[in-house]
Amino acid sequence: MGINGETKMVGILGHPVTHTLSPRMQNAAFKAMGLNIRYVPLHILPENLPAAVAGIRAMEFLGANVTIPHKVPVCSLLDRLDVSASRAGAVNTIVNREGLLEGHNTDGAGFIRALRETADIDLPAAAVVILGAGGAARSIAAALAEKGAPRLAIINRTRQRAEDLKALLNRDFPALDVIIRMPDEDLGDLLSASRLLINATSVGMEGHLKAVPLDVDRLTKDHVVCDIVYAAQETSLLVAAREKGATVMGGLAMLLHQGAASIHLWTGEDPPLSVMRNALES
Ligand code: ATR
Repeated sequence: MGINGETKMVGILGHPVTHTLSPRMQNAAFKAMGLNIRYVPLHILPENLPAAVAGIRAMEFLGANVTIPHKVPVCSLLDRLDVSASRAGAVNTIVNREGLLEGHNTDGAGFIRALRETADIDLPAAAVVILGAGGAARSIAAALAEKGAPRLAIINRTRQRAEDLKALLNRDFPALDVIIRMPDEDLGDLLSASRLLINATSVGMEGHLKAVPLDVDRLTKDHVVCDIVYAAQETSLLVAAREKGATVMGGLAMLLHQGAASIHLWTGEDPPLSVMRNALES
């Protein structure tokens, strides 16, 4: 189906955005679904985010995905947030309802779906360690809290962002035990006492693979280790975890499921996961 006067547009707002696999995955889905929709990368500098959001309205885009570093700041530019976005304090999907921009968050649900595919894990009994406190970390942490995770340790380079995430989580989940640690502290005991370890920092994106601040010797076959980074198919964290016998999950699975959930929000239809998976792997 060629582009014509009826073509609807969706974009991904990010900085940088050149690494993104979303256009390939989402366009493959729209094609397979027979929908006249195109998905484009949109490089948006932070200072231009308000103008870009206004542009979604002005150009009558169906909506957009939102990625680094805009997931948190975009919240205040939208007309309303659904519960997934307000709980996470982060938006990865904008839906344009006749000029009214609605913020959603499919990262959390996408992560949970990917996790369920990968491991048989009893979340209400699973202590979690999460690296990072940015938009992706917030979404995943809120989704895990919603599924009943009892304890969550946040490790982040910038302490204030971890404090902000703790406050956000305890606002909606007062019984959740949230611990904050700095990357240079001894994290060994914390790791030993946990079941699920998630790297939700962007370390890896710019070639900082060596920066993962963890004593991987503490990992065992009982751990489930997830890395949201998908630029390199297997990050150094996952390679090390696999060597220890842990169950590992890379970023592509979460990317797939958050993208499918976004398409459902824009179109009301479920996209073909196998087509999307093939597009990511080709
Ligand atoms: P996203 O929306 O993908 O989460 P983000 O909101 O910009 O992106 O957050 C990026 C996360 O990666 C943050 O937790 C950030 O740590 P700070 O809060 O200290 O900035 C983390 N991060 C980015 N680069 C990092 C690095 N080189 N070492 C450690 N953490 C890093």
